[in-house]
Amino acid sequence: MNTETAIMKITGDREIQRQFLEMSHLYDAAIREVRTKLEILDREFSILYASNPIHHIDSRLKSPRSIIGKLERKGLPVTIESAEANLQDIAGVRIVCNYIDDIYRLADLLVRQQDLELVARKDYIENPKPNGYRSLHLVLRVPVYLSSHTELVPVEVQIRTIAMDFWASLEHELRYKNDVEATAPLKDRLKRCAEQSAALDVEMQSIYREMRGMAGRRSEDYEVDGLWSDDDSQEE
Ligand code: GTP
Ligand code: MG
Repeated sequence: MNTETAIMKITGDREIQRQFLEMSHLYDAAIREVRTKLEILDREFSILYASNPIHHIDSRLKSPRSIIGKLERKGLPVTIESAEANLQDIAGVRIVCNYIDDIYRLADLLVRQQDLELVARKDYIENPKPNGYRSLHLVLRVPVYLSSHTELVPVEVQIRTIAMDFWASLEHELRYKNDVEATAPLKDRLKRCAEQSAALDVEMQSIYREMRGMAGRRSEDYEVDGLWSDDDSQEE
């Protein structure tokens, strides 16, 4: 059965529609749990160290169409059970950090949280893909508390710098928005771009470390004032 036929069959079946809705709720809840954890950590860093490790967070729930397509491509049964058992990227969170150090610090802080379980870790920064792709990938199992029980839901977390994200976004667009495949010389040039932007990351990191070393901790200059800046502070 091809993907289109499978989608037609599934979208027409009310029971399967209901199951998809239930699954979406679960994975969406897991995404929100992870996002909240990250926002709490980012805020804490800003208070303690006057620095924000996270530039921004993206997240996405894989659509029924992509889930079916992936199951078909992998020759797996096209059912909800099969999707839950075989796909680890139904829920995806992408954390874009400012510096390379932030990536490992955040990954470490997430993995150490008691209710999160690390299922898989792939370090494409230490070992970039042959095309030049860089990011740290984690699969975490996140508890979602439902009315009758708790489910542990896998979430694929990609952590990268702004520079890594810049390269990956454009490379993805080039690959999917063009009918023709890149020639070997073009692939080489793309890979060189990845290497150049990786060199920028290393240099920016080094500049940041030196400046931080000179500045020391300056949290009192940044955050604490903000606590008292609402109206009643005018009483002084
Ligand atoms: P999938 O079956 O495609 O999910 O691959 P996988 O299970 O081997 O996982 P992998 O860690 O290789 O990649 C998962 C995700 O990382 C992809 O869905 C992309 O979002 C991202 N990714 C991996 N490789 C590349 C790449 O070469 N270019 C870009 N732009 N993104 C990539
Ligand atoms: Mg994937």
